Amino acid sequence: MTVLSNRLSRWTLPIFGCALVNFVAAQGLILAGVTWPARSVSAPGTLAAVHLLVIGWLLLLMLGALFQFVPVITARPLVSQSLALATLIALEAGLVGMVGGFFAIGAGHPALAMALPAGGAVVSLGVLIGCWNIGIPLLRSRPLSLPGRMVLTGMAFLLLTVTLGFSFALAVTVPALAPYLAPLLAGVSDHALAGLGGWFTLTAMGASYKLLPMFMLAPEERGIAGKAAHVLGTVGIALAVGAGVAREWSVAEPLRVAESMGYAAVATAVAAFLWDIVRIYRTRKRAVIEAHNRAAIAAFAFLGLGSALAVGFVMTDHPRAGAPVIVFIVVFGWLGGLGLTQLYKIVPFLTWLSRYGISLGRGVVPRVQDLVRERRSYPWFALYFLGVLLGAVFGLSGSSHGFRACLVLITLATLGLVIEYWRAWRGHYAQLLHGESSTPPFLPTHRG
Ligand code: HEM
Repeated sequence: MTVLSNRLSRWTLPIFGCALVNFVAAQGLILAGVTWPARSVSAPGTLAAVHLLVIGWLLLLMLGALFQFVPVITARPLVSQSLALATLIALEAGLVGMVGGFFAIGAGHPALAMALPAGGAVVSLGVLIGCWNIGIPLLRSRPLSLPGRMVLTGMAFLLLTVTLGFSFALAVTVPALAPYLAPLLAGVSDHALAGLGGWFTLTAMGASYKLLPMFMLAPEERGIAGKAAHVLGTVGIALAVGAGVAREWSVAEPLRVAESMGYAAVATAVAAFLWDIVRIYRTRKRAVIEAHNRAAIAAFAFLGLGSALAVGFVMTDHPRAGAPVIVFIVVFGWLGGLGLTQLYKIVPFLTWLSRYGISLGRGVVPRVQDLVRERRSYPWFALYFLGVLLGAVFGLSGSSHGFRACLVLITLATLGLVIEYWRAWRGHYAQLLHGESSTPPFLPTHRG
């Protein structure tokens, strides 16, 4: 148990708390009608909401989880727990600057708009610190498991995404620099693909390859399907982004072919991964699937749906037309959905380790599953994923009112789940289960 407590990432739960606040704030912007589909995809409100979602919610969530998860898969500690706090502070502070900068550009305030590159620089610093903290144990681990290799590859794409984003921000706010940044001023779709595909999706695949077998007692060795998902995903995204960037300077036919081959490889990687996920569910030893992994099936389905739509739009030569809905499905359905479902296990697990793990053998201690009441979570998960599905339909049909009505469902469901996470953290259900007599062990205690 001491080993487990020592491996506990001290800042992961506060990071999750901040990530959830950013998620709800982004939903607030959409509900307020300052983003797509009420406004254009390049409107300041849309860009602010997109970055609140991808940096404030998903990046914090992913790094917070990796601070806990990387020491487990590498059997090596993080460089430092304090660097996890530094990452949180830099990402939050930089994000405030970026969001303010986007709105200042919209309001025609050139001086205040400088908050965009300034915030972007601070976010980039936070990313570098976070990558250093998890990259060192990953690079020192031999042999590195498939999830570790996927996280490492994802990190390379994260650095690329941030470099491209920072270049856009500088070029927009200091036009004199644009000619010098020209080689990096790729299409915004390459920035989005590197971030959502290269970083988030590859890393989420790697995390799923560890978490699903761990909690469902399925074989961890993934064989050819896991390797195919990793290699084809990496090569495909590198090819699509590389050719996409190069196409900004040359319209040569081979570049178009390379880009299409990249997209085909990514689609094949997603198919291999989803097939492998089905195998994990089928070969599990645990008869009853816990709520978080039942709900995660919807997130995997959204990965399939988003990829199928992307293939459809690319094949009909209208990739840009479908881009906003695909980004919505990937951010809310696949990545956000997977995040919310896995939090439903990770929060009680970390709470148990930090609060009750040290009390083992010293009286009544609840089990991890006593910290949640699974049947309470199902309506929220169902409402969330229904909201995303209907939101995608309204997004495709261009109905802004319908889309925002779905966001109401999504926000209600998110808040409902936040209450459940909070209750798990407070030991609410465990106290109800064991009665007042056992209150002392269930009261929050400081970490050992
Ligand atoms: C994980 C990191 C990131 C992801 C996944 C990401 C994703 C995206 C997406 C999806 C868009 C398109 C939004 C739309 O068209 O409405 C976008 C645009 C943009 N991003 Fe990022 N972003 C990330 C980090 C950053 C950073 C650190 C900066 C630096 C300031 C940045 C600056 C920008 C800018 C300026 C645009 C607008 C570009 C244009 O319209 O020409 N991004 N990003």
